[in-house]
Amino acid sequence: MPLVTSTEMFKKAYEGGYAIGAFNVNNMEIIQGITEAAKEERAPLILQVSAGARKYANHTYLLKLVEAALIETDLPIVLHLDHGEDFEICKACIDGGFTSVMIDGSKHSFEENIRITRQVVEYAHDHGVVVEGELGRLAGVEDDVKVSEEESAYTRPEEVEEFVARTGVDSLAIAIGTSHGAYKFKGEPRLRFDILEEIQRRLPGFPIVLHGASSVVPEFVEMINKYGGNMPGAQGVPEEMLRKAASMAVCKINIDSDLRLAMTATIRKHFAEHPGDFDPRQYLKPAREAIKAMVKHKIVNVLGCNNKI
Ligand code: G3H
Ligand code: 13P
Ligand code: ZN
Repeated sequence: MPLVTSTEMFKKAYEGGYAIGAFNVNNMEIIQGITEAAKEERAPLILQVSAGARKYANHTYLLKLVEAALIETDLPIVLHLDHGEDFEICKACIDGGFTSVMIDGSKHSFEENIRITRQVVEYAHDHGVVVEGELGRLAGVEDDVKVSEEESAYTRPEEVEEFVARTGVDSLAIAIGTSHGAYKFKGEPRLRFDILEEIQRRLPGFPIVLHGASSVVPEFVEMINKYGGNMPGAQGVPEEMLRKAASMAVCKINIDSDLRLAMTATIRKHFAEHPGDFDPRQYLKPAREAIKAMVKHKIVNVLGCNNKI
């Protein structure tokens, strides 16, 4: 099966009250772990590539690894650019075989966000590619950009209809209290479901995207801390909140940090138990297995997108 866009996936997810997992990919083991999990659970999938991933692994390598996963799994897979910051990177990914791009104009003014988002939508739609826009600003760390809590801002529901109408985006990322990275909440986790409800009311049937949606799986944090790491206070979005969002208008849930934690925790444990190992296969194999098990859990118990193909 060739790469697909998210149009059909989101329609079914919205109607079915579940969400598609959008997992960040950076290398072969991560792609294999995620896609093997989705294959066994018969789950549609979004694999997303950040600017940092393209810099690290190279566009062509990532594209070809994902094409290999298509051959091996025969799954419907969307290849998506995560947090495209300008027209140029979106164009490079559209020209380079991606089926979906995000233009993240959330750091700009409302008018400038509309202008660049519209420009990407026109080019993307001419090439059969779908576009995710963003309104509101998440806290946390992405690549070299760190957004402090003070700079972050919830999405303003009164802006969403105009933004969607004037840009023509296919989905919208919103800020309701999640953040990127492994330190999401200082105290009790809290999400503004009232904002999500109001957005859903204003945009009936329109797919919403939740970034910064890792649970920061406590077992992995404990493992990292046990085997020489230091991540005090790491905390993610509780799974029941993600399930609630998935049952509402949220059709795409972004997960990266949980992949990083699974991989790092497993590799730390491996070296603590086998200090003499030096063949990368010895530690990358259990890391890939940990990713697979974690993604299966997300698909079945959090996203609800198993058996949907
Ligand atoms: O939202 C950001 C993702 O976690 C990607 O992170 O830019 O470090 O690859 P990255
Ligand atoms: P996490 O850091 O919570 O995994 O969020 C990932 C993300 O939003 C990628 O765009
Ligand atoms: Zn994000």
